[in-house]
Amino acid sequence: MDNNIEEIKYTLKKYGQEHLLNFYDTMEENKQKKLLEQIENIDFELIKSLYSNINKLQISDNDKIEPIDFIDKYKLNEKYKYYEDIGKKAIKAGKLACVTMAGGQGTRLGHNGPKGTFDIGLDSHKSLFELLCDYIKEQSKKYDVQIPWFIMTSNDNNNDTIEFFKKNKYFGYEKNIFFFKQGELPMIDTEGKILLGEDGLIKLAADGHGGVYESLVKSGMVEKMKQLGIEWVFIGGVDNCLVKMVDPVLMGIAIDKNVTAAGKSVVKANPHERVGAFCKKNGKPSVVEYSEITDEMAEATDENGELLYGESHILCNLFNISAIERMGSNPLPYHCAFKKATFKDKDGNIVKPTSPNAYKFEAFLFDAFGEVDDMAIFRVKREEEFAPVKNAEGVDSPETARELYNKFNKLV
Ligand code: UD1
Repeated sequence: MDNNIEEIKYTLKKYGQEHLLNFYDTMEENKQKKLLEQIENIDFELIKSLYSNINKLQISDNDKIEPIDFIDKYKLNEKYKYYEDIGKKAIKAGKLACVTMAGGQGTRLGHNGPKGTFDIGLDSHKSLFELLCDYIKEQSKKYDVQIPWFIMTSNDNNNDTIEFFKKNKYFGYEKNIFFFKQGELPMIDTEGKILLGEDGLIKLAADGHGGVYESLVKSGMVEKMKQLGIEWVFIGGVDNCLVKMVDPVLMGIAIDKNVTAAGKSVVKANPHERVGAFCKKNGKPSVVEYSEITDEMAEATDENGELLYGESHILCNLFNISAIERMGSNPLPYHCAFKKATFKDKDGNIVKPTSPNAYKFEAFLFDAFGEVDDMAIFRVKREEEFAPVKNAEGVDSPETARELYNKFNKLV
């Protein structure tokens, strides 16, 4: 252990992070061990480069951004059945798996726990997880297969999520549910110093859903999928209670067009809706995020008055398993958010900031879209497939999601 510590001290000095061992001597042995393990797992070169690129915009002047072509579900006519038949055949043959990204907490909703455990207030009081599970079970029955469901958790909510499923007897779908964890990165302050949390350990935060591909590969889930004969993987968020994970038409389009990725879009409600928009970046499929699009781009229209960047990315994407493996082996760029983070300062005081003080780094899943040459974009109807629960009140709230859910399921 002593040699180990000397090496660690050397690395910390090299990167100006010596403060991480400030309280080491006063810590209990198991915590000391944990801290050293955490430090050994830090990629200090990455942290250094993230800090020096904090102010770099994601869209550089050299990037060529263009609108992307899409297929409208309601203009397919006779082609609809053609694609549907192709997709149905593949689903019946057991080639589809679903992945739900559920690493987030319900903080914005005022919910204390994993977002998937949130009850949107339906008469049934079913949680988001149960609504999603009901849907997969129903589809499995329809196609006479057992569609496997992979759930991505984070360190913050993994135990609570698994407990929740146990308590609810996995909603009767236990053998087909698999959990895997997403990665984490240290938070840093405005000087580039890694923060220590209240417990004296490294302050880590979930590294964004962009880590989904790498986590699927590293956790052995891709291997498991292959053993199950899976060829196509739908990846969606946990917070859309109308998410249509099993879509034969989307699958048929991807198979027929011989593309390894396909994404669903809905028309933006207004140019400044807080959703990402599908586009082409340097000739490759991409998404320009709501926080990064310029007003000019957001408002640009074509000759028919339709928004040029109006195809909202609704976190409903389908990938061939080969694309997941490729995406999982190439690092993604990180986006940076400035957040309030409680930490232990160099004198051992616990500081609870009242304004943002630390950077959190997240990779976005759509930054990997450039790894595939082409992606089919499939425009669907918002009222049929997109009822997100993001905010406690107003837009994208439990109230709006409930209304859309009830309307779609003809419960009102
Ligand atoms: C996201 C998309 C946006 C899209 C919108 C549609 C990003 C950066 N942007 O915005 O393009 O139009 O959804 O609803 O995602 N999650 C994890 N781990 C993480 C972070 C998130 O599993 O580290 C999961 C959440 O549990 C949730 C989903 O990813 O299911 C979306 O995350 P959220 O942070 O709510 O994204 P938005 O800002 O709403």
